[in-house]
Amino acid sequence: MSRPVGSRLVRKAVIPAAGFGTRLLPATKAQPKEMLPIVDRPAIQYVVEEALQGELHDILIITGKGKHAIEDHFDRNFELEEELRKSGKTHALAEIRDLTTAGRIHYIRQNELLGLGDAVRYARDHVEAEPFAVLLGDTLLRPSGECLRKLISIHERTGDAVLAVEEVPEDKVDRYGILEVESVEDSEYVVKRIIEKPKREEAPSRLAAVGRYVLIPEIFEIIDGLPPGKNNEIQLTDALHVLATRGRLRACRFSGKRYDVGNRFDYVLTTVEYALDRPDLVGIREALMSILKS
Ligand code: G1P
Repeated sequence: MSRPVGSRLVRKAVIPAAGFGTRLLPATKAQPKEMLPIVDRPAIQYVVEEALQGELHDILIITGKGKHAIEDHFDRNFELEEELRKSGKTHALAEIRDLTTAGRIHYIRQNELLGLGDAVRYARDHVEAEPFAVLLGDTLLRPSGECLRKLISIHERTGDAVLAVEEVPEDKVDRYGILEVESVEDSEYVVKRIIEKPKREEAPSRLAAVGRYVLIPEIFEIIDGLPPGKNNEIQLTDALHVLATRGRLRACRFSGKRYDVGNRFDYVLTTVEYALDRPDLVGIREALMSILKS
């Protein structure tokens, strides 16, 4: 299918991962929340793998103070490799080598935590004049990759920015960017308005942004002109709202499952669900069932 004039292939992913992770203290006092393990992989590894599954091999991670462990995780560790080689642990060796070669990972530091919109602004020089995907570092989606591929295909068809949405319960609308939309197709919408963390009575719907976006370079100039929004932060949602008023924002309903690993309750549930899906953890389901029955 031919692309609209001005639209370009999406090749780059941006993963904002600079936040403190206060909802998971004290675990996040000296390590990034994105490095907390879900079974045996840090959460951010699943997000990087999702980007790769969406064919985005150029990845920029927006880090900040205390986030060095993320860079170390995706870097070579020669001593460890040598140790694994000597002890014949070839599977583990292959796994840690794959991590460092699968994509091209770049880093930039957000020096002050001024909000998600501000974090995205740090990607400007890296993405240049290209559309790019944004994947929030503390949100995991399953099935992985499918949502991103859908967003990219909508962008490539329309040239517009696109975000993934799902319906949330009414008592949770104040945790998300909430949308007013017009339906185009079954799971695709034109966005008329988006508002960050509205009160229940102000929410235009229950359709919430789930933390996956394909953005267009026009977003940077919009962010530059934004005053601080909700919680006195520069909100990506406010920039998206400007795109919506220009008729340049679409939404796509995500039909899989979303895991917010940035709070205790969901973090524990995510770990359990991912463990249940691991073929190598033989007997885990039965062990969990017996705990639940006792
Ligand atoms: C961010 C966005 C919000 C979105 C949410 C998804 O909020 O600002 O619009 O709905 O992610 O997780 P945060 O959770 O970082 O406060």
